[in-house]
Amino acid sequence: MMRTLGTSDLIVSAVGLGCNNFGRPGSLTEDQHGTDAVVHAAIAAGVTFFDTADLYGYAFGRSETLMGHALAGRRDEIVLATKFGHPDSDTPASYPGHRGSREFIRASIEGSLTRLQTDYIDLYQMHVPDPAVPISETLGALHELVGEGKVRHLGHSNFSAEQMEEAARVAEQLNVTPFVSAQNELSLLRREADVAVTPAAVRLGLGLLPFFPLANGLLTGKFTRDHFPANSRIMRQRPHIAEQADWDVLDAYRALCDSWGVTMLEATFGWMLAHKPVASVISGATTPEQVRQNAVAGIRFTPTSEQYAQIEALFPIPR
Ligand SMILES: NC(=O)c1ccc[n+]([C@@H]2O[C@H](COP(=O)([O-])OP(=O)(O)OC[C@H]3O[C@@H](n4cnc5c(N)ncnc54)[C@H](OP(=O)(O)O)[C@@H]3O)[C@@H](O)[C@H]2O)c1
Repeated sequence: MMRTLGTSDLIVSAVGLGCNNFGRPGSLTEDQHGTDAVVHAAIAAGVTFFDTADLYGYAFGRSETLMGHALAGRRDEIVLATKFGHPDSDTPASYPGHRGSREFIRASIEGSLTRLQTDYIDLYQMHVPDPAVPISETLGALHELVGEGKVRHLGHSNFSAEQMEEAARVAEQLNVTPFVSAQNELSLLRREADVAVTPAAVRLGLGLLPFFPLANGLLTGKFTRDHFPANSRIMRQRPHIAEQADWDVLDAYRALCDSWGVTMLEATFGWMLAHKPVASVISGATTPEQVRQNAVAGIRFTPTSEQYAQIEALFPIPR
């Protein structure tokens, strides 16, 4: 199933692949072999939208480098998104200036193109806003990259609703390439974005790319009140996500899914893909089997308006 990204002409698969597992210690996708297996399984399953970032992989550039090898000879089969400018990243010392500055952006794009072994990025996203640089400078630098053919479309990530509005206003004033997508945390268990970011994305015609859509794996159904699978990112790195979960609500969700004859994974994808203006669910996967399951889950269940409302009633927007 394919969709357009917001009001742009970029076509993305409804189920995408988040690539922050590539290079992750302890996972099958830590090395090239595991990354190849997941990337190739994704393409075979019809998942063609890949989302990475320059800092992913537990060493700056590692996810992009692994993907560059995995995609050798197959670049044209996929839509490739990456990001620049995360403040926590171990940025190479050779990158000059502030994260949102023209010099920094030019160094960033060259690094990503080299590691990904490509001469263009389909969606180039600013990872985190940079308060030290006016958005006009950032947009101007990104517009140059579009003009040079190095980038096809622009997106932002972790912007507030106000920052989204400002960026759209400034792009229009300067007559430069606007952002077409917003990537923010959103899942049934984390709906803060639905307070202001989601409505802003609707107003501005942006495609929404929720991150942590499966709540790191908690919403896949493999966790229960009594069983937390040890071989999982949550138990290796963030056990508090399972330990502090509201199991009464999750049990009620499972019962609802059971009553409809769908899995929790299918209901979670179904809700998210019906949640406007979500364009693609960029869930991560650590095995070929997971990516195949996710591709199927993305088409198996479309909630009726009543079912959609029942899911939302269990996981209300925080006020
Ligand atoms: N813009 C930002 O600031 C930002 C921040 C974070 C993430 N992101 C993006 O969002 C993407 C998705 O986030 P995420 O991958 O961190 O979290 P996620 O999609 O919520 O969870 C993915 C994890 O769930 C487990 N899983 C996935 N499918 C499964 C299945 N069918 N059955 C069982 N387990 C399954 C896997 O972990 P295990 O096998 O280890 O259990 C997988 O790594 C990232 O890859 C990245 O592209 C962006």
